[in-house]
Amino acid sequence: MADKATLTIDGQSYEFPIITGTEQERAIDIKTLRGATGGVTTIDPGYKNTGSCQSAITFLDGEEGILRYRGYAIEALAEKASFLEVAYLLIFGELPTQVQLDKFDKDIKAESHVDEDMKKILDGFPKSAHPMGVLSALTSALIAFNPSSVNVDSEEDMYRTIVKLLAKFPVLAAWAMRKKKSQPLDYGDNSLGYVENLHKMMFAKPNEEYKVDKAVIDALDKLLILHADHEQNCSTSTVRMVGSSHAGLFASISSGICALWGPLHGGANQAVIEMLESIKEDGGDTKKYMAKAKDKEDPFRLMGFGHRVYKNFDPRAKIIKVAADDVLNQLGIEDPVLDIAKGLEKEALEDSYFVDRKLYPNVDFYSGIIYRALDIPVEMFTVMFALGRLPGWIAQWKEMRENKEPIGRPRQVYTGENFREFKEVSKR
Ligand code: ACO
Repeated sequence: MADKATLTIDGQSYEFPIITGTEQERAIDIKTLRGATGGVTTIDPGYKNTGSCQSAITFLDGEEGILRYRGYAIEALAEKASFLEVAYLLIFGELPTQVQLDKFDKDIKAESHVDEDMKKILDGFPKSAHPMGVLSALTSALIAFNPSSVNVDSEEDMYRTIVKLLAKFPVLAAWAMRKKKSQPLDYGDNSLGYVENLHKMMFAKPNEEYKVDKAVIDALDKLLILHADHEQNCSTSTVRMVGSSHAGLFASISSGICALWGPLHGGANQAVIEMLESIKEDGGDTKKYMAKAKDKEDPFRLMGFGHRVYKNFDPRAKIIKVAADDVLNQLGIEDPVLDIAKGLEKEALEDSYFVDRKLYPNVDFYSGIIYRALDIPVEMFTVMFALGRLPGWIAQWKEMRENKEPIGRPRQVYTGENFREFKEVSKR
């Protein structure tokens, strides 16, 4: 196969190297394009064809429905690993030994205290505030309470900062929820595992012994693993972009949370359950909503359907669909919304509009049904996604800094006015 690409502009040819990844993905390296051509650039809105970096963290093949973290299949990780093991794998590149995992867990626990003054910031928010906004603001506020900047050339410094964030983030997420529910804030219990502690911080009642079904923790663990990384998606690219200016880890993650919030990205999980609920309220007529989704005059989209990269199936959606059935069975819950979701999926998979455009259920289509079964409020769904995505964001930020990537600064093609003389206000 050719290892060079030739581009001809105005009769002049230019050659660019083709680089090949470890999974044989090929990319034309256009680093020298502007210099060689005297200023010609490329345009690719939404970066549909543009690689922003070389990364060794996550591989996904949208045509084959493959997703691997550091080479390990998502199916195996979701079935056999714990979220903390996956976090370690993503961030440090290898599955931890038991000794490494115990140390990681212990180090996280040692940092799980959040400065009491952070509560004053939380108090400033109205109860109506969306927890994603609160989480982003609190993550940013962490900088003020941990002001020393990270020396990215020091492994120890990097480790300490990463562990701090992994420790404090679940506390902030749980607080964002408890504030909304007017419940006292909780610091959890360091004798519990990471995911169980998160659950306790979210749900423990001040006047009752905390008890939880193992099925709940297992389901939560699995969901967090399935969300843990997804290469250069919108929020991850945001984290890398913000970090590329050498803004610190907490600031970069705070920006990533905002990017994730949008309904075209992580916010879709909230939008899906709201959509399914309104279909139910409206008599459960899925055909009517299918027609709306296909109508170009109607802004309605089938939320939880379609993906920029997956054009066959989303392997995470497959696992989550089975998990949703399992969790509801284990907890003895019947949710009519699950039947509506399954009905919609069946219709869409047989409809030429969706088939032709390769639109399949994505990770968000069934996740909300599990969150609901676990009593997680709808507005917290995207926060749960952020909790899962945190290790991925950290791993990508770390890789970007370690690879000494340049500041992210795309080009544009200007389409505005040509030069105009300024006229004073009295002459306009
Ligand atoms: N419902 C109806 N039509 C859709 C949908 C949908 N959910 N998704 C895409 N389409 C149609 C578009 O209208 C377009 O049709 P056209 O070719 O006739 O104009 C075609 O499919 C391609 O869609 P694009 O928007 O160009 O695809 P893109 O890759 O830019 O967008 C996205 C992907 C944003 C995920 C889109 O499919 C969507 O909006 N889905 C619903 C929101 C959602 O579920 N987001 C979560 C994604 S997963 C995640 O971020 C964790």
